Amino acid sequence: MEIIWYHPSQDATRWIHGLQQRLPHVRVRGWQPGDNAPADYALVRSPPVEMLRGRQGLRGVFALGAGVDEILAQLKHHPDMLPDTVPLFRLEDTGMARQMQEYATHSVLDWFRRFDDYRLQQPQSCWQQLPSYQRETFTIGILGAGVLGQRVADSLKIWGFPLRVWSRSPKQLEGITSFAGRESLNDFLRGTQVLINLLPNTPETLNLINRDVLQRLPQGAFFLNLARGAQVVEADLLAALNSGQLKAAALDVFQQEPLPKNHPLWSHPRVTITPHNAAITVPEEAMDYIARAITQYEAGKTPQGCVDRQRGY
Ligand code: NAP
Ligand code: GLV
Repeated sequence: MEIIWYHPSQDATRWIHGLQQRLPHVRVRGWQPGDNAPADYALVRSPPVEMLRGRQGLRGVFALGAGVDEILAQLKHHPDMLPDTVPLFRLEDTGMARQMQEYATHSVLDWFRRFDDYRLQQPQSCWQQLPSYQRETFTIGILGAGVLGQRVADSLKIWGFPLRVWSRSPKQLEGITSFAGRESLNDFLRGTQVLINLLPNTPETLNLINRDVLQRLPQGAFFLNLARGAQVVEADLLAALNSGQLKAAALDVFQQEPLPKNHPLWSHPRVTITPHNAAITVPEEAMDYIARAITQYEAGKTPQGCVDRQRGY
């Protein structure tokens, strides 16, 4: 069996060696331009079109990340890149959930304990206690109740905040209120003090977080974007921050990445920016997952993480 691998920034040697150890009967090679030799599986992040287009005998493609929006967008422009008969898999968790939990917990507690306000007071040598938020009304609403959204909700449970999630299909999650479908979005937003975005980027979620959505949150709400920048209308976000409708935002993802140097979000005093690393692919855990999935698939089973291309995630 032959596997080809491509990632624009990760170390090929580590992956090839690690996969070879986990799948000893398989030959793994880093894909190079011009390599059209047979391959059974392709493991890819931002693959050049020619890596996949017209490739005979491919049995499956693994995206080396949780989101598949980039590869699905490529497919839209180059439908011959991957026939419908070849399944596309994505990484579920593989070490990313814990990173998301860390990020979300850090931000929520920072805001709840008003550390953001105390940081602003410090340059003025200002010794002043500020009123506390009430835990019972510091409601956290998570857009997306999938692999990452559910794990983030779980990690926030111990702090006693009211928790709610919004997804396409209803969920039964202990201690968490579930809202499902577009018709329930306004109810979900009403009373949500901290909005956390963990939705996949699809045509339905594009620009979803706009003026209308932000205005439905309580005055002085918080926003945490851990998913994709394309889901947020940045001009509306800035307006909401400037008017005080939003008190603060922590943003990991942007419409344009890297965020342009002159972008007003960089210098906004109430915005925290990270460079799209809320949860990065952890090679060892991802390789365990992929090796297991290939073994299952070869045995005629359907592994987890198969993407529904029509749905977009
Ligand atoms: P997932 O398991 O596929 O979960 C997606 C959730 O979103 C599901 O609950 C789904 O509802 C819901 N959803 C999808 N479309 C919807 C719609 N139109 N309306 C309402 N709910 C909708 O995905 P995941 O593994 O949790 O990952 C989520 C996203 O995080 C990824 O797609 C990726 O873009 C992003 N991500 C970002 C980073 C980073 O470093 N910033 C790292 C990893 C992942 P159902 O449950 O009803 O299907
Ligand atoms: C990162 O953004 C991912 O989707 O894995």
